[in-house]
Amino acid sequence: MSQIAFITGATSGFGAACARLFAANGWWLILCGRRLERLEALRVELAGAVSVHAVTLDVRDGSAVNAALAALPSAFAEIDVLVNNAGLALGLEPAQQCDMEDWQRMIDTNIKGLLYCTRAILPGMVARDRGHIVNIGSVAGSYPYPGGNVYGLSLIHISDPTRPH
Ligand SMILES: NC(=O)c1ccc[n+]([C@@H]2O[C@H](COP(=O)([O-])OP(=O)(O)OC[C@H]3O[C@@H](n4cnc5c(N)ncnc54)[C@H](OP(=O)(O)O)[C@@H]3O)[C@@H](O)[C@H]2O)c1
Repeated sequence: MSQIAFITGATSGFGAACARLFAANGWWLILCGRRLERLEALRVELAGAVSVHAVTLDVRDGSAVNAALAALPSAFAEIDVLVNNAGLALGLEPAQQCDMEDWQRMIDTNIKGLLYCTRAILPGMVARDRGHIVNIGSVAGSYPYPGGNVYGLSLIHISDPTRPH
């Protein structure tokens, strides 16, 4: 039986690259993003080799995340790997001149979106005693750049592999 990866932000960049790499290794995929046409193009590209389920999803919406998980086809329900990749960097202004909406959007996407997806998928992994969560971080979390104030804090992902639960 194939393993299943749930990838957020699969319509572009790292997320799309992860999807192609998982597919090349025979994994079934759940691809998430807001841009339906891009999701559909990637689904069609990969679907010949592996089974692919595309979900139009804004990770900032916790209720939508839960609903998307509840609506997964049964063949895709047992997720082995969650790749929390959806995210963005906005603004380069000094903190005192920032656009508060940029800060809110980064926190809502990069932090809260990651938490919503993790909280929705982790119980199944724990129940099956199987699974991995990959949080895409950034060197900006360790090595700040001018204007990267909130972006940096939103992509610090610290985990202790000896204490997965
Ligand atoms: N590129 C870099 O140099 C770099 C370096 C370090 C870390 N990172 C991090 O790596 C991750 C991916 O970066 P990337 O360069 O591949 O970026 P990208 O090409 O801009 O892709 C970002 C992805 O996130 C998705 N996304 C954004 N907001 C979303 C939302 N509210 N709900 C669902 N999906 C959302 C986008 O999909 P839709 O627009 O279709 O929703 C898109 O697929 C980000 O977390 C980024 O901060 C990037």
